[in-house]
Amino acid sequence: MAALGGYHAAVTQHPQRIVVGVSGGSGMAYAFDLLETLSTTDAETHLVVTAGAKQVIPSEGSRTVHDMIALADVVHDDRDYGASIASGSFQTDGMVIVPCSAGTLAKVAQGFTDNLVSRSAHVMLKERRKLLMVVREAPYSRPMLANMLAANDAGAVIMPASPGFYHRPESVSDLLGSVTARTLDHFGVAHDRSPRWKDDDPTA
Ligand SMILES: Cc1cc2nc3c(=O)[nH]c(=O)nc-3n(C[C@H](O)[C@H](O)[C@H](O)COP(=O)(O)O)c2cc1C
Repeated sequence: MAALGGYHAAVTQHPQRIVVGVSGGSGMAYAFDLLETLSTTDAETHLVVTAGAKQVIPSEGSRTVHDMIALADVVHDDRDYGASIASGSFQTDGMVIVPCSAGTLAKVAQGFTDNLVSRSAHVMLKERRKLLMVVREAPYSRPMLANMLAANDAGAVIMPASPGFYHRPESVSDLLGSVTARTLDHFGVAHDRSPRWKDDDPTA
């Protein structure tokens, strides 16, 4: 099946409104980095954190789910199907799932909506809005590879938690910034989170 065509134009007025779903993959630092970067912009963030993510967060450092929540403009309970972001009539510019676990990927790829992250992601697909999935697993199983293709064909962008090195990172923050920058570029959010290839030499 061919991948769906381009995204619809952004549907909200500026500032943008972006849903951030956090599921239980490893790599909570990516979620913190995206939310921290977005908090320096005009974008309005709607955060929803799965039960799986709440288990992973304390295993990856000293930052808590409360620290994460403090970075968002609006926070939704993962079991609240009455939340604004559960409906296509609530206008958003799209959604990022970061990190995106194999389980959440599978649910989104198959249209299974058993929590607010998977329901909101389904809304993005049906409304032809942006959906970026920062998948995290190594190695990928065959079901995960098949689900990535299915999600891609349904209109999602698979954005692996796989930083580049051409900007010569010197810190973990530099590596995180590489993924955050590529993610925000899809939403047209202005940022300087990571250097761009040859951006300092427009004649190159
Ligand atoms: C410390 C820890 C690390 C994990 N890392 C990953 C991972 O990198 N990728 C993944 O797909 N699942 C990972 N898991 C398993 C998921 O958290 C688990 O499958 C969970 O059911 C996902 O649910 P959710 O997608 O609703 O958040 C990890 C779990 C723990 C406790």
